[in-house]
Amino acid sequence: MRPRASRLTVSVGLGLLILGLLFSACTGRRSREGSGPVTLVFKHAKHPRYSYLRQLIDQFEAENPGIRIREEILPASTDEQHQFYVINLGAEADDFDILDMDIIWVPEFARAGWLVDLTPHISEAELEPLNPPALQADWLDGRLYAVPWFVDAGVLYYRKDLLDKYGFEPPRTYPELVRQARHILARENDPRLNGFVWQGMQYEGLVCVALEFIRGNGGDLLGAGARPALTAPATLEALEFMDALIGEQGVSPSLVTTLNEEASRFIFQSGRAIFMRNWPYVWRKLQEPGSSMAGRAGLAVVPHFPGHASVPTLGGFHLGVNAYSHHKKEAIAFLRFMIRYSSQKEILLNLGVLPAHMEVYEDPEVQEALALPAELLAALSLAQPRPVTPYYLMISQILQPELSAVVAGIRSPEQAMAVAAPQIEHLLEIR
Ligand code: GLC
Repeated sequence: MRPRASRLTVSVGLGLLILGLLFSACTGRRSREGSGPVTLVFKHAKHPRYSYLRQLIDQFEAENPGIRIREEILPASTDEQHQFYVINLGAEADDFDILDMDIIWVPEFARAGWLVDLTPHISEAELEPLNPPALQADWLDGRLYAVPWFVDAGVLYYRKDLLDKYGFEPPRTYPELVRQARHILARENDPRLNGFVWQGMQYEGLVCVALEFIRGNGGDLLGAGARPALTAPATLEALEFMDALIGEQGVSPSLVTTLNEEASRFIFQSGRAIFMRNWPYVWRKLQEPGSSMAGRAGLAVVPHFPGHASVPTLGGFHLGVNAYSHHKKEAIAFLRFMIRYSSQKEILLNLGVLPAHMEVYEDPEVQEALALPAELLAALSLAQPRPVTPYYLMISQILQPELSAVVAGIRSPEQAMAVAAPQIEHLLEIR
């Protein structure tokens, strides 16, 4: 094993606790008295092409003159957003009404009693067109606690100009990707060019990527009877391969162990990588005016190992209402506005993310305005969620340092998974 790139060790615990409390103190409480419009506080991540979201919110306000929406932006990393919610909702904070949640937190927050039960307020007809695996995460014990507003699926971006130059088709398998990358790297002879970048930092993004390698080799996080399948040969081989990408294969730079989504995008968008794993939002970023990658990048379904199939990780963000909110009725109206056809179409046209409403993709106006690659929709239809359980975050927190140790070359997959598997097993037994 090679001791490699020094990992960025982020001490989230105490720092975020203080940050969260400060944050909550600063936002203050709104007066609940008096007449005039009700102001709802909408906590959300800063989404790409964010100014269009405000336009959509303005439209909601125009249709609902008695309601104002105040946005409060959360930090960019999903792990930090999660910390914020846990700290504040754990303290029964009532100073925000609408939550923007990563799909993986919904069962946890629902189980904790932090989300309003939406079952009586949202009809089957409203839910029916929404992406089924995304929606599945919003139900707990037969009650609905959130709605999906956009969905994510891991995809592979590639330099179409370079693949064309060397006569390659986009790779379907990981060994093919490695072969192409090594071939191109050897001939381009450009020290700034990397083979394959992905999210290798110690955070949730690394779990999403590792799961694509593992499932693409026929393995999984949890196997039969929801027991950890981490020490199965399929899982260990996949992790071995990730490590070798940085090591023996020489295809991924050691700096991948410090990359999140945006840092990987910067590398790819500035022409410094042949392949990149990322989410669909990057597609629109690459096409923006002034982007040097406009017309030079392609998009494919994430690869798999020979004899297996591609399984992109399903991500995305969901909306829910804070159980401590004083304006639940108004907040529910906002959720219903966001999942309706016209808003979801607007999200697809302008926000650059993939909406949950499956029918808007067929809309003639959308098809006319956007040349969405067919592979993007294929990725969406193949995507599978991370384990849908209120304990997912605990599972992920056990896995993250171990996966990080593997890709940093500090531990072998066998050693790392021998640490993670019994902890996850114990967690699932005692729940
Ligand atoms: C994206 C996905 C989300 C995932 C995160 C990991 O934001 O939508 O589900 O957890 O990336 O970084």
